[in-house]
Amino acid sequence: TPVPLALSPPMGFNNWARFMCVPQAPLDGRNPQKYSFQDFMTDQGRGLVSTGLARVGYKTVVVDDCWMQRDGDGQLYGASHWSSPRHGNSTQPGFARDLTPYVADLHRMGLLAGVYNTSGALTCERVPSGEAGHQNDDARKFSGWGVDFLKLDNCGAPETSLEGLFGQMGHALGAATAHSDRKILFDESAPAEFGPTDPLKYQSMQWVRGLGQMWRVAPDIATTHPDAQGHPMDDPWVVHDPARADLDGVYQAFTDTVALSRYVGPGNWNDADQLLPGDNGLTTAEERSQMGLWSIMGAPLVLSADVRQMARAPDDPHLKQSLAILGNPRAIAIDQDTLGAGGYRILRDNPSDDAGTDIALKPLADGGFAFLVLNKNPQAATYDLPMSRLGVEGGQCPLALTDVWTGKVTHVAASGTLSLRMEPHDNAMYRVAPAACMSLRPSGQITTVQ
Ligand code: DGJ
Repeated sequence: TPVPLALSPPMGFNNWARFMCVPQAPLDGRNPQKYSFQDFMTDQGRGLVSTGLARVGYKTVVVDDCWMQRDGDGQLYGASHWSSPRHGNSTQPGFARDLTPYVADLHRMGLLAGVYNTSGALTCERVPSGEAGHQNDDARKFSGWGVDFLKLDNCGAPETSLEGLFGQMGHALGAATAHSDRKILFDESAPAEFGPTDPLKYQSMQWVRGLGQMWRVAPDIATTHPDAQGHPMDDPWVVHDPARADLDGVYQAFTDTVALSRYVGPGNWNDADQLLPGDNGLTTAEERSQMGLWSIMGAPLVLSADVRQMARAPDDPHLKQSLAILGNPRAIAIDQDTLGAGGYRILRDNPSDDAGTDIALKPLADGGFAFLVLNKNPQAATYDLPMSRLGVEGGQCPLALTDVWTGKVTHVAASGTLSLRMEPHDNAMYRVAPAACMSLRPSGQITTVQ
């Protein structure tokens, strides 16, 4: 029997949030005119290995929009020069026609290879390469190249066609890999097409589960880097500009995603979009909060930052902290926990995105749980947390709490209170060991047995 895919949330790299369609110049003095999109992606993969991020799980290197072209004969290939009708044409080389050598390079490094396409005709960057009508041929081609992962976007298709088009792609991937040891993980953008109150969103949440392993639920995450038209992208923590309502800050992506936590389970992950620690304009505290919130939600951990730079300058004070946050073994263990529960929000004491405190909690396979207290204020704050607020009871029953960020263990009685102090947009995150006075109901609620 085949091993099911993505029993824990997928982890890796995607170039989109940080770079969009524009691969950047080499960092090592190679001729920029000869430095291809393919070299750029391979170098990001090399960075995952040399920083140690691959070793802790960040293995799938996904190339997003603009890597491809579809020839007059309908064949999908690597584009010799990356181009995007939106970003303009580039003289910079793209990919080899045949992706086999690229995929093999990643595999040799112990990594996995992901590619992107769209379900309709034109990608969001208007590349006329979409899957509509080509699903079977392309699935066989991806399998032949050795591809491990397909991200399928919504662009170029009417909303009402998404279910049919995603269905055709999902089935094509299954058929193409039926006799292969290398399966193709299916990452579906579909639910993100629909707003939070659109009934079609909830319908899409039902059908994506049967087809793929992860799906986008919310708008694209913002960064400080300008978009294709040179417009600044607003604050990546909380986007305030109404003109950028097409983007979510980190906190907004958390809010949109945690609302759907009931759909999460092994092999079924809500994708809150890419991780920004590194060079995307978040403070170190905000980076810690994104990593913590994503781990509590059981979201895929797909980094979008210049990993080449992180590998070259590991002593840069900001990047050094970013690397420690991304590689934090306690946060990763919570994200990858085998119970596969979707963490849920138990407190939002202020509806504002910029004030108050949120608390989120995730039951864990060992019978314990993790929780995160988020300081939404732009100032440092203190917070007294009665443990009973987390649903634990049992009087003097001592609970052992491990601070996810420092590794320090503290003990507090179930009836006790934890005093927390948090920097602006920072969090306190703990893993609570199972205790005799605490049990986990199948509903995921923590309760007490006496
Ligand atoms: C929209 C998606 O949400 C992004 O993650 C990215 O894939 C772009 N499309 C590419 O055009």
